Amino acid sequence: MCGIVGVVGKRPCVEILLDGLRRLEYRGYDSAGVATINGGDFTILRSAGKLSKLARLVEQGAPEGTVGIGHTRWATHGRPSEANAHPHRFRDTVVVHNGIIENYAALKRELMVQGHEFTSETDSEIIAHLVQRALEHDHDLVHAVRSALMRLHGSFAVAVLNVKYPDRIVAARRMSPLVVGLGDGESYLASDVPALLQVTRRFQFLEDGDLALLEREGVRLFSVDTLTEVRREVRTVSWTPAMAEKGGYKHFMLKEIHEQPRSVSDTLRPRLGLSQGEVVLDEMGALDKRLAGISRVTLLACGTSYHAGLVGRRLIEDLARLPCEVEVASEFRYRNPLVDSSHLVVAISQSGETADTIAAVQEARSKGAAIASICNVVDSTLARMADSVLYTYAGPEIGVASTKAFTCQMAVLALLALWLGRRVGTLDADRAATFVQGLTELPVQMERVLERNGHILDVARKHQRVRSMLYLGRGVSHPIALEGALKLKELSYVHAEGYPAGEMKHGPIALIDDSVPSLFVVPNGPTWEKTLSNMEEIRSRSGQVVAVVTEGNRQAAELADDRFEIPECLPELSPFLTVLPLQLFAYHVADLKGTDVDQPRNLAKSVTVE
Ligand code: M6R
Repeated sequence: MCGIVGVVGKRPCVEILLDGLRRLEYRGYDSAGVATINGGDFTILRSAGKLSKLARLVEQGAPEGTVGIGHTRWATHGRPSEANAHPHRFRDTVVVHNGIIENYAALKRELMVQGHEFTSETDSEIIAHLVQRALEHDHDLVHAVRSALMRLHGSFAVAVLNVKYPDRIVAARRMSPLVVGLGDGESYLASDVPALLQVTRRFQFLEDGDLALLEREGVRLFSVDTLTEVRREVRTVSWTPAMAEKGGYKHFMLKEIHEQPRSVSDTLRPRLGLSQGEVVLDEMGALDKRLAGISRVTLLACGTSYHAGLVGRRLIEDLARLPCEVEVASEFRYRNPLVDSSHLVVAISQSGETADTIAAVQEARSKGAAIASICNVVDSTLARMADSVLYTYAGPEIGVASTKAFTCQMAVLALLALWLGRRVGTLDADRAATFVQGLTELPVQMERVLERNGHILDVARKHQRVRSMLYLGRGVSHPIALEGALKLKELSYVHAEGYPAGEMKHGPIALIDDSVPSLFVVPNGPTWEKTLSNMEEIRSRSGQVVAVVTEGNRQAAELADDRFEIPECLPELSPFLTVLPLQLFAYHVADLKGTDVDQPRNLAKSVTVE
């Protein structure tokens, strides 16, 4: 969702702002703007639409100044337009804001009664008014920002400039991510690390309720509540700028699909012990004392991460024999969930900033559950909220559609299932060793599937004009059917439905005719033969069939008009392979249609509003 960049520098800053905003494009946005302090006044440039429009404005007359803020806006209050784009100005104050101010209508009314006039439909503009008003009584920018923030209900990451204080930015966060970057005589601010990798690798991750004062000499952090100074560790991140670039691929998504053998291997390798079948999860140490009392596992996640959870549930129940449920995080709070201290709750989130998942974890914690999280972004909110965090080592995922984070999440869930199984005593050493062997073979098998990209493109060409598609799978292939359908709809805007293959005859079969193809996920395993009859049922109604099958399974292959093959693997681990052709198929259909693959319409990478 919205992105923030800020610089207090010693060289003209507009290019740093634009470069940072470009690196935040993946978050999703529909307008953008920058403001710099220049000769006792602001230069503000804003435009609706893509950053290229803002860049053209900058080319026509680059704003001068070494201190500035920039923003990409994903519309919530008010349509995408220049007037609603940030930064918002009121007199000497300029702000950018991410999040939602829940009480903005009441505050706006109050300010209007006092004669304030507004130029946008946004909730954010009131912050500039509140800061400016506070400065009339207290000539200290930190105090003024603080007193404005104390009036706000809801979530925010904000950055504030004031021309009377030209060498500083004051920023703060509540439930919306913000990091500060430390440079040589320069200080930076951003919603996410990749925005600043060109200028620094040293970061401090703000926590909820932190307020930052950025000056050239450095950054000071305070508690918004008490204004006492707080300390946050300075971390040097290992992500390089190149990791957040396309590296010769047409899209980030394509690059990220091809990175999966490597990222799954990176995620598995450090956790595999020296003896056969041994899994070492030192990260779970913080929960050590509580684990003896755990009798259930609940997985909480949204979107693709939820689909990884569905695969994880099967593995946890199978290997650890613990009851395990998976919940869509946005629904969890609204059913008075039966959670207590006997539950291990595991939040799964690539970004670690998904508002629905954060809210669900808060609910689980308030009921006494032990909390672990599986995150890709170091020090993200969900990483910090958990007693134990299991990181996926996928590297930065820039494409809005999640791919490599998904397979890495499944890798961590497989490790967790193995680890719990051995710990609880339900998994014998031989089966554990077989499983670990199966996991270690995955990266090479994944490479082999990805080598067939050319064939997948040919099949995508056949279906590029399709209007609707069914994705079907049984058992562990059902979550992959859901994930394949999600990929197709979010990238190519084609209606696609994922269904358990056995449920098809209870309704969705009515959709089938020669214009609605079905994609079956039917690798070798306990359910493939049962799924064949579902494939027959589609064919006898003139439906086209595409199938993901295991190499050498002629019976399954012969029932399909087109097939994507995967190597033989442990059936429980087949999702790591079956998902790959579905990612590539969705990618190619979208690319052939000419949609914006890396930033599909209406979507945001990091969904920081509920
Ligand atoms: O960052 P998270 O894993 O918490 O994000 C959850 C979903 O928003 C995300 O998976 C979304 O569904 C992606 N667009 C899927 O490709």
